[in-house]
Parts: sequence; C-alpha cells; structure tokens
Amino acid sequence: MVCLGNICRSPLAEGILKAKLPNTTAVTVDSAGTAAYHLGKTPDPRSIAIARTHGIDITQLRGRQFEVKDFDDFDLIYAMDTSNFKHIIALSRTDEDRLKVNLILNELTPGEDLSVPDPYYGGDQGFKNVYDMLDKACDRILEKLI
Ligand code: 4NP
Repeated sequence: MVCLGNICRSPLAEGILKAKLPNTTAVTVDSAGTAAYHLGKTPDPRSIAIARTHGIDITQLRGRQFEVKDFDDFDLIYAMDTSNFKHIIALSRTDEDRLKVNLILNELTPGEDLSVPDPYYGGDQGFKNVYDMLDKACDRILEKLI
C-alpha cells in the first residue's frame, strides 16, 4: 500500500487489509510512502483515530519510503493516487515490476483510474471518507487473496 507520506492513507489501507485477513494467511501486507517526509513516524493521529473507531490499531506502524527492492518483495503494489502511481512506475525496472502496480480504487471501479483523496490538509470527514473507500477496496483485494 503506497501513498505520499505513509502516515495517512497507506497505513490505514495496511491496517484495514491486515484486519480482514485470516490469522492463518501467509500474505504479508506493508505500506510505504513515495516521499521521505515522515520516515520512522507514527501514522497521523486522525488515521489512528478513525482506525480505532473500527477496532483497528495502527499505532505500531512507522513511516518508510518505497524502494526498488519492494518490487522484489511484493506481488501486488497498490498506489493511493495517480501521482503515487507515476512515482512507483518511474522506479520500475521491468514489465514484471510494472504489472504489479495498480491504483487501489481500480479494484472497486476497474479502469477508471480514480484516486483516494489526500486527507492531510483537510478535516476528520476526509479521513472518514478515505476509510470507507479503503474498506470497500480491501474487501475486493481480500477476495483475490484468499
Ligand atoms: P498520505 O498523506 O500521503 O496519505 O500519508 C500525506 C501526508 C503528509 C503530507 C502529504 C500527504 N505532507 O505533505 O507532509
């Protein structure tokens, strides 16, 4: 799960998908940011709060930057928005790398290339909207994974 700062959208997506996966699954879920603004930082308090209202604890997550090695370590790479998508593609080395990358909302509305809006400069309602979008998208991803 990849966004810009790895403190608002992608940690939420990571927490939501992890919470949906059965304990027995061998799937590894992680998140990263295309930027290095928030390395080692906890998720934004507003992401922590909206996750908590849904019974999900994301306080242990820490910001990290997306790296080329992630193409080797992961089979599916979900970008939150079209800018993140372009940054990830710019780091790709092969068609195999590029085939792993998709916009997360294309799981809900295939081919429409919609972005999860960046809630950083907005209020709590933005985080609620983001949560609801990611929750629905993660339901679709779950169907693929199990
Ligand atoms: P995120 O949100 O990409 O969903 O983690 C942002 C977090 C921080 C900034 C921008 C977006 N920032 O400019 O610091």
